[in-house]
Amino acid sequence: MATVISVSNQKGGVGKTTSTVNLGAEMAAQGNSVLVIDLDPQCSASSGLGAAELPGEHDLYDVFQGPASLSEMIVSTSVPEVSLVPSSRDLVSLEIELGKRPGRELILRSEISKISHRFDIILIDCPPSSGLLTLNALGASQWILIPLQAEYYALEGLSQLVDTVEFVRSTFNSNLGILGVFVTMYDGRTNLSSQVEDEAKKYFSDLMFATRVPRSVKLSECPSHGLPVRLYDPHSAGSRAYEKLAMEIRERLKLEDISALAKAV
Ligand SMILES: Nc1ncnc2c1ncn2[C@@H]1O[C@H](COP(=O)(O)OP(=O)(O)OP(=O)(O)O)[C@@H](O)[C@H]1O
Ligand SMILES: [Mg+2]
Repeated sequence: MATVISVSNQKGGVGKTTSTVNLGAEMAAQGNSVLVIDLDPQCSASSGLGAAELPGEHDLYDVFQGPASLSEMIVSTSVPEVSLVPSSRDLVSLEIELGKRPGRELILRSEISKISHRFDIILIDCPPSSGLLTLNALGASQWILIPLQAEYYALEGLSQLVDTVEFVRSTFNSNLGILGVFVTMYDGRTNLSSQVEDEAKKYFSDLMFATRVPRSVKLSECPSHGLPVRLYDPHSAGSRAYEKLAMEIRERLKLEDISALAKAV
């Protein structure tokens, strides 16, 4: 059964998609079979991975609405060992359309359970909100992985994010844990970056990853080529950072006591 990880932070533009795409590619290079689910109607992970077209007329929206299943939505990407479920722009209206339908937070979990045996790792790229799509992602995941942008307002909203995790745990997914927090767009020339990291360490202590993802032009260029950075420029600082971060994550996933640690926050 796959380990399901949501890459999530309701704050916009913090590096969720960049991290999902590049961690997926690195974990695949390190020997895992990876599925990326693009749950953001902006569809950035789908284009960043150079996804193939869906063969049929249905897309992820139809999985939430009933007529299609997730297994029909899996396509290949520019990385041979990474498969992808592309997003759908129609997902924008899902929240309103599903209204208060019972079990609406658990649609994705039920669909993932049918395909989970085919992969080692499933990474879900969440939209910048804590709405129904993110609740579906967290309902289907064992872990949430939190990117934190090294910017002044980075820590704002973190308590809201932890509240969301608590809400999910106490209502429909008691298995959810915080896998860890890492800093993105780190700029070693500024005090601000290290201040943000220090503050985050105070808040999350051992849940912080040692690897920081630096601000890197290569990381911002590679999506327009439909490639993760390890294929676009394998020797760049961004590529090396995601390689190290993927190793740290895989190591942490092996630790038995992580669940006790994560659930103590
Ligand atoms: N380490 C980095 N160095 C330089 N640019 C980066 C880095 N990480 C992300 N970016 C750029 O910052 C922007 C936001 O990144 P990204 O799309 O990954 O964030 P996001 O959290 O997924 O955003 P959204 O909340 O809109 O989904 C993008 O233009 C991306 O190319
Ligand atoms: Mg994104």
